[in-house]
Amino acid sequence: MPRLGHETTEINVSASVAQLSAIADADVVPLAGRIGVEVRGIRLSGDLPQQVHDQINRLLLKHKLLIFRGQDQLDDAAQESFGRRFGGLSAHPTIGAIDGTTSVLELDTRLEGERAAGQGAGRADQWHTDITFVDAYPKITILRALVVPAAGGDTVWSNTAAAYAHLRPELKLLADSLWAVHSNAYDYAAVRPHATTDDKQVYNATFTKTVYETEHPLVRVHPETGERTLVLGNFAQRFLGLSKGDSQKLHDLFQSHITAPENTVRWRWQPGDVAVWDNRATQHYAVNDYGDQHRVVRRVTVAGEVPVSVDGRSSVIRSRYDKPKVGRAA
Ligand SMILES: [Fe+2]
Repeated sequence: MPRLGHETTEINVSASVAQLSAIADADVVPLAGRIGVEVRGIRLSGDLPQQVHDQINRLLLKHKLLIFRGQDQLDDAAQESFGRRFGGLSAHPTIGAIDGTTSVLELDTRLEGERAAGQGAGRADQWHTDITFVDAYPKITILRALVVPAAGGDTVWSNTAAAYAHLRPELKLLADSLWAVHSNAYDYAAVRPHATTDDKQVYNATFTKTVYETEHPLVRVHPETGERTLVLGNFAQRFLGLSKGDSQKLHDLFQSHITAPENTVRWRWQPGDVAVWDNRATQHYAVNDYGDQHRVVRRVTVAGEVPVSVDGRSSVIRSRYDKPKVGRAA
């Protein structure tokens, strides 16, 4: 029965291709109840079969954070190639990218000078969503660990869709109506009271050399999942129409729901780990508990969409200006 044999062979080939190009359920390991999975058995690159890439995107939309271990094959170019499968890459608007790359930003705790100052000497120990001081902030961040402390230096993520979903109805209504101004010109001295004068000057010359102020709804509708997510974090300065005092209280209130332990997951890094998160549905915090140990990570960001509120209005940049260059104090 040669005809049947041919068909059987075809079926077998299809089955094995499907196996090679799909992620098995057993290779998706939950890290916490509401956010984060480790995905095993995948070697990240820009050349993954479309079916695998689609599956990665679906997992990302569902779990908000994906961790891939042992990705030592990735260099800057391959990390960017993988990122481009999700869309165009975007460089940091004031710090730029490492030479020879489109969007790679290095966070190195031993780096002195501009790039270190731009990220607070490489220690992002404030809850934030990446780059919310612009309107179309990145949709996805891909972070690769190169050097990690023997202990400490973990990252914590929160699920801002879960945070909204678990609000009481009365607070959802309030959140739906609020808009906040986000800026990169936050009070650096208040956040980093031990910063030196030189630290502050370098910070002013880099991270805030262009000052942005952008209005975002507190609740945005996720463009791919339709979920409502909270947009807040460290770059949010005040709520539109409210006093500084009321703004601070409401910031604390909603931020406390975002960072409730139930909505978070904490990851202990090893070199070669890669974290991919949906920047539209998460905040994160780099735990600053490792003293002067060395920590180096490199990140790639994928360009995002302008957020849209529950009533269909879009975020808007209300001001953007270059600071005048000021000479160093004598
Ligand atoms: Fe960040």
